[in-house]
Amino acid sequence: MAAPPSDHPEIDWTKWEPAVRSPCPMINALANHHILPHNGRDITKEQAVKALTTSIKLDSGIANIFTLGALQGNPDHSKHTFDLDMVDKHGLIEHDVSLSRDDLMSGNNHSFNKEIFESVMATYGDNKETTLELASKARYDRLTACKKAHEAAGKHLEYGLKEFIFSYGETALFTAMLGDKKEGTCPIEYLRIFFEEERLPYKEGWKPPASPVTQSDMNHLIFGLLTAKAHKAAEASQVGLGTVQAVQAAVTSFLHAPSFCTIM
Ligand code: HEM
Repeated sequence: MAAPPSDHPEIDWTKWEPAVRSPCPMINALANHHILPHNGRDITKEQAVKALTTSIKLDSGIANIFTLGALQGNPDHSKHTFDLDMVDKHGLIEHDVSLSRDDLMSGNNHSFNKEIFESVMATYGDNKETTLELASKARYDRLTACKKAHEAAGKHLEYGLKEFIFSYGETALFTAMLGDKKEGTCPIEYLRIFFEEERLPYKEGWKPPASPVTQSDMNHLIFGLLTAKAHKAAEASQVGLGTVQAVQAAVTSFLHAPSFCTIM
C-alpha cells in the first residue's frame, strides 16, 4: 500500500469543521486532504495554483487559468479569493450534462448524485480501466439523457461548443490525473474513489502524474475522445456545427483564443 507523500498535511479525522464544497471532485478532494483550506473558504490564487501544480502536477499555465475562472465566481470583485461553493455559478465553469451532478433545472447543480453517477459508470461494465471509446460513449449517453429530461420538462438544454469543450476537458483531466495520459486510460477503482469519496487514491497506490499535465496532453485526450466516437456526427450537429472536422477546427481555435483564459 502506498503512503501519502511525506509533505502531505497532518489530518485530524476526528475534527470536522463546517465546510463548503463545489461541483468539482478535484478541488473538493484537495480540500478534503487539507491541501486546500479544509473549510473550502477564502482560497487565494497562490494557494490554488500551488495545490494544483505541486499535488497533482497540473501545468502552471492551466492552473492559473482555472484559478482565474474560480476567482470570477466571487460576487465581491474587490476580494481576490474564492469559496468552493462560488464555482457553482451556472455558465461560468459549471454547465449542464455533468457526469455526477444533476442539471441546474433540478435545483441542485453541485452535489454528488449517486444515481446519475451509476448511470454513467454502467457504460464501463466490468472493465477494470476506462478507455477513450467508453469515456466518450459515457459522455454522449449522458448528453442524450439530459436532452430527454429537458424536453420532457419543456426546457431548453444549454449545450453548445463551450459546454462541449468543458465536458470533454473534464474527462480528459480525470484521465490524465488518475491514469495514463498517453493511452487515455485510467483504473475504474481510482475513478470511483475520486468521484464517490472525493479523495485521491493514495492508499490504493495512486501517484501524481510523473510529468506535468500540459495543454498538449489535454488536446491529445480531447481529440482522442472526439475521434473515438461512434456518434461524432450527431454531437457535431448538437453543438451547432455540421461536421466533426468543423468541431475539431472550432475546438482548436477555442483552445488558442485569449477568451479561453477568462473562463476555463
Ligand atoms: C481551480 C481549479 C478548478 C476549478 C475552479 C474547477 C471547477 C469545476 C467546476 C465548476 C465543475 C463543474 C462542471 C459541471 O457542471 O459539470 C468542475 C467539474 C469537474 N472538474 Fe474541476 N475545477 C478545477 C480543477 C480541476 C482539476 C485539476 C481536475 C482534474 C481531475 C478537475 C476535474 C473535474 C471533473 C472530472 C469534473 C466533472 C464533474 C462531473 O461531470 O460531474 N477539475 N470543475
